[in-house]
Amino acid sequence: MYILAPSVLGADFTKLGEQIKRADQAGAEYIHLDVMDGEFVPSISFGMPVIKALRGITKKIFDVHLMIEQPERYIEEFAACGADVITVHVESCKHLDRVIHQIKETGAKVGVALNPATPIETIIHVLDLVDMILIMSVNPGFGGQSYIDYSTEKIRSLRNLLNERGLKTDIQVDGGITSDNVNVVLDAGANIIVSGTGVFKGNLEENITRFHEIFKCY
Ligand code: DX5
Ligand code: ZN
Repeated sequence: MYILAPSVLGADFTKLGEQIKRADQAGAEYIHLDVMDGEFVPSISFGMPVIKALRGITKKIFDVHLMIEQPERYIEEFAACGADVITVHVESCKHLDRVIHQIKETGAKVGVALNPATPIETIIHVLDLVDMILIMSVNPGFGGQSYIDYSTEKIRSLRNLLNERGLKTDIQVDGGITSDNVNVVLDAGANIIVSGTGVFKGNLEENITRFHEIFKCY
């Protein structure tokens, strides 16, 4: 199944609720929420109170991308705020296996993210345990950056590896994706597409429709 996950980081924060409702009505399947702590990544974005408030306005899947150090400190709190998918970075977890199980205990789905320079070998032993692998196609921290080309090869290798093991795990890609280059990551084997600027810049409804038109070709 192909899924569009608009990243609210690309939204106009003065109209956040309104824009998320519009993304919902236009058919976005997930809402991607980027949490940044100023430690793991240079920026600070938003946290639990914002997610909790937004939970009241849409029933769509809340896909929470934790770009924070020691995420194990906050897993239960994010789940309680309404996160349906909780993604942690392999680079921020000393005990990744333990954090994966901690997320599972909350009932949320588990995502594991890899920064651009982190090899997929770092997660081969936990592939069976996770619902989604997030291949970062920019260095995390900011919206509006350019897609890093070598991500394509990484997505392809990961999809091959999953196929060899008979796993249908979701591959999410995040960073620098618009309807102009989404084909590249879909061809490589990604099926959950995060897009901030590509959804919220210009006409939101038209942008979402364009992504879904492309998904139909796969
Ligand atoms: C980057 C975030 C992304 C970002 C994507 O650190 O994880 O989700 O908002 O934004 P675009 O699509 O503009 O690259
Ligand atoms: Zn993200």
